[in-house]
Amino acid sequence: MLETVLSFGSVTVFLFTFVLALTVYHTVTRTRGSPPGPPLWPVIGNLHLVLRKDTRNMLREMRNKYGDIFSLNIGYSHWIFINGYDVLKDMFVKNGDVTSERPYLPALSNQGNPLGIVSSSGHQWTTYRKFTLCKLRYFGFGSIRIEKSIQQEVILCLQAIGSHNQEPFDIQDLFITSISNIISLLLFNKRFDADDVSMKRIATNMSRSVENVHGLWFLLFPFLRKLSWALPLIETFGAEKHALGKLYNRHLSTYQDGVVRDFTDFCIQEQKKKKDNEDSLTELQCLGIMRDLYEAGTETTTTAMLWMLIHLIRQPEIQDRIRTEIDDVVGSDRLPSLLDRCKMPFTQATIMEVLRLENVVPFAVPHKVEKDLMFGGYFFPKSAMLWLNLDSVVKDAGIWKDPEYFRPSRFLDEEGNLTKKEEFIPFSLGRRVCLGESMAMSMLFLFLTSMLQKFIFLPASAEEMPVLDCVYGEFIHRPLSYKLRAVPRNLTI
Ligand code: HEM
Repeated sequence: MLETVLSFGSVTVFLFTFVLALTVYHTVTRTRGSPPGPPLWPVIGNLHLVLRKDTRNMLREMRNKYGDIFSLNIGYSHWIFINGYDVLKDMFVKNGDVTSERPYLPALSNQGNPLGIVSSSGHQWTTYRKFTLCKLRYFGFGSIRIEKSIQQEVILCLQAIGSHNQEPFDIQDLFITSISNIISLLLFNKRFDADDVSMKRIATNMSRSVENVHGLWFLLFPFLRKLSWALPLIETFGAEKHALGKLYNRHLSTYQDGVVRDFTDFCIQEQKKKKDNEDSLTELQCLGIMRDLYEAGTETTTTAMLWMLIHLIRQPEIQDRIRTEIDDVVGSDRLPSLLDRCKMPFTQATIMEVLRLENVVPFAVPHKVEKDLMFGGYFFPKSAMLWLNLDSVVKDAGIWKDPEYFRPSRFLDEEGNLTKKEEFIPFSLGRRVCLGESMAMSMLFLFLTSMLQKFIFLPASAEEMPVLDCVYGEFIHRPLSYKLRAVPRNLTI
């Protein structure tokens, strides 16, 4: 009996101490001159605020109340949100040397260590980012030379759309296959069928690591990272590593010195060159970079294409206007080309408006402060996690008139020419700006124009208009799944 009372007492004391420690921790992190924020609840801090359906609205309220720089204490993490174009530019462009590191991102790490480009920092990050961009450019990444590879997938995508014979279908998997195949061509000089096992494994894992619910606990309570036995439970790289590793090894067996077929060959070449150098790009890091390109490229571009079709189905007059541009500039005898882009301002404006309004990665990927920093009158302790509220810029009513409306013409001047605003930042800004921006813009243009050249997109039925709602609380701003119908314009594919 006495033992029970004692152990009950110990548990109570432990819990009390834990709650007290967290409350004191929260209070201390708030009072050291750090940015203001909403009142803290014991233990959870402000966790309840980020569990809302659409975090973007909550952050808008916070900005109105606390200004352009505010903080939230989420579990044991101190998150600082940076809002508004001028402040973001000051923080991540002018002070980019101390604000471009990444915190620990469980979904993108291996046994607690960063892997690839997205999650790495410092010298490792600069080396991998430079290497990747330089080698991908050799295959036309970010230039007109990539057009043929994209068109190859566009043609297969058009055939697959046609095969639904105007019946309602969900186009998401088709987009995932098309985009990941464009990336596969660059990485492995190979495309995969939709039902290929390795590809399926990579795709499934991709969405798991974007959603990565367990990983959230490690963002909330970073000290859990010390529990190394638990890392495999939250680091989702395992299955992907296996699938990518298999492709990599198959490649290795056919590798010939001096012959470069794709990015993987460049990786193998680099490893052979730097065999004895500590800094060398290991096979594991190569797989990490490949995973980054698949994940960062496929989920985002697919999501943008899904939002694009929702808006075009809801506003068929915009579809018609793009089609008029296609008929005038491209006609019906050939596929649209990237060279047509400059003659199609309304089409480009529509793509930009989708990216502005639906802002696929609304808070970018978190950054970390490299060393103690005074900024905007506040103290940012070393390692504080920074979120770039890109949404606060692309929806800023002071920059965009009626920011909540879908209106492509806001990107056109009075003569109908395309105008670019520096505040258009769905790809972020500063040193960490998206590595695939021009690739994404090329894919969006070629898919959109080729699809509208051949098809009219309609809702599944008059009662099933796709809605503008989004999936609950994810880092990627995704639409709810929907079905559509594609009616051919009676042109040959
Ligand atoms: C509509 C499509 C896309 C959008 C909206 C988008 C947006 C973003 C954003 C907001 C970031 C975070 C930047 C930061 O941390 O400040 C990012 C990073 C990144 N993106 Fe994209 N992205 C898209 C497509 C692509 C594509 C097609 C690729 C490559 C194939 C790609 C590769 C990357 C990589 C590697 C990073 C990490 C950069 C780094 O940490 O240095 N993205 N992207």
